[in-house]
Amino acid sequence: MNTLVCLEPGQFSYEDRAVPVAQEGQALLRIRRIGICGTDLHAYEGTQPFFAYPRVLGHELAGELVAAVPGFEAGEAVTFIPYFNCGTCIACRSGLPNCCTHINVCGVHSDGGMGEYLLVPTTSLIHGQGLSYDELALVEPLAIGAHGVRRAAVKPGEFVLVVGAGPIGLGIMEFARIAGAHVIALDINEQRLAFCKDRLQVAHTINALAPDVTEQLRHITNGDMPTVVIDATGSLKAINNAFSYLAHGGRYVLVGLQKGDISFSHPEFHKREATLMSSRNATQEDFEHVVTSMKAGLVQPTTYITHRVPFAQVQAEFASWLDPQTGVIKAMVELE
Ligand SMILES: NC(=O)c1ccc[n+]([C@@H]2O[C@H](COP(=O)([O-])OP(=O)(O)OC[C@H]3O[C@@H](n4cnc5c(N)ncnc54)[C@H](O)[C@@H]3O)[C@@H](O)[C@H]2O)c1
Ligand SMILES: [Zn+2]
Ligand SMILES: [Zn+2]
Repeated sequence: MNTLVCLEPGQFSYEDRAVPVAQEGQALLRIRRIGICGTDLHAYEGTQPFFAYPRVLGHELAGELVAAVPGFEAGEAVTFIPYFNCGTCIACRSGLPNCCTHINVCGVHSDGGMGEYLLVPTTSLIHGQGLSYDELALVEPLAIGAHGVRRAAVKPGEFVLVVGAGPIGLGIMEFARIAGAHVIALDINEQRLAFCKDRLQVAHTINALAPDVTEQLRHITNGDMPTVVIDATGSLKAINNAFSYLAHGGRYVLVGLQKGDISFSHPEFHKREATLMSSRNATQEDFEHVVTSMKAGLVQPTTYITHRVPFAQVQAEFASWLDPQTGVIKAMVELE
């Protein structure tokens, strides 16, 4: 089978590999779509921390089940939860496989789906009947957002500020809206803010470079400030800044990730009695919530797909998706 291997930063190679054979507890997928994510781009750039090469990238996947496994039929369209967990650690025992102490993320810690076939644990499979392969490949990035919104326990009528309008932030906005929130989008990229307004019907957008962000937030929230702030930038500056946007009694959820140390004023944090949370990956509950929401027409994430290429073109096109000028939100790879 044709497989694209990232040999080292900046270098891809197509290799012919044997089609893997499913053992007990495994399912063989014929890959039909591969969504390209920031993680894949950073791995190619060489800026993804703790990343070992060579590696087959790709974890936003949709495929066709080659043979039946318990609960699933041969030929079924599926996606899967690409965070393989140990099942025995404190997190797994607490129902939090998404932050397993020995987590193995497909396409990050082990080889992923940039090839014609992939073996996955049968326990990771998610039914996809009624959804297109494009939609199924978008379930995982949306589940990241759904998880962040669930962490924040967003209630109807709340003002939720989402900082960062990349693919992850867009998913957060969609699921905050589905939870009944008034969404406010904050970004430095006008093109992305326009996308939020035009395509996602986000009523309030603010450019983070404006001198009066706090005043604008105060105005939108009738003086209260947002009771929930969710970061999806991965920018240390943005993360540190947004502490001051929180309402008293507010919750701050970090979905975005960066390498430095966060710092904030303890008295400011104290006086708000604020809650700070990280949000890592997603669980089966989040994946099911995304699938149900897609089937109900509450999210139409295929509008995020700005670039589309056949598998044979990935090596040639990949570097261009690193350039913000190309206006990439989501690039989608297609396999016959
Ligand atoms: N929680 C998880 O498990 C998980 C999973 C996937 C990705 N992530 C993280 O989510 C983050 C977002 O991912 P993405 O793929 O959407 O990234 P992205 O780079 O496409 O989007 C980030 C957005 O933040 C904006 N931004 C940058 N600096 C800003 C600032 N100072 N103020 C306001 N906006 C600013 C950018 O303009 C951009 O639109 C990354 O940090 C990524 O590592 C987390
Ligand atoms: Zn991803
Ligand atoms: Zn575990």
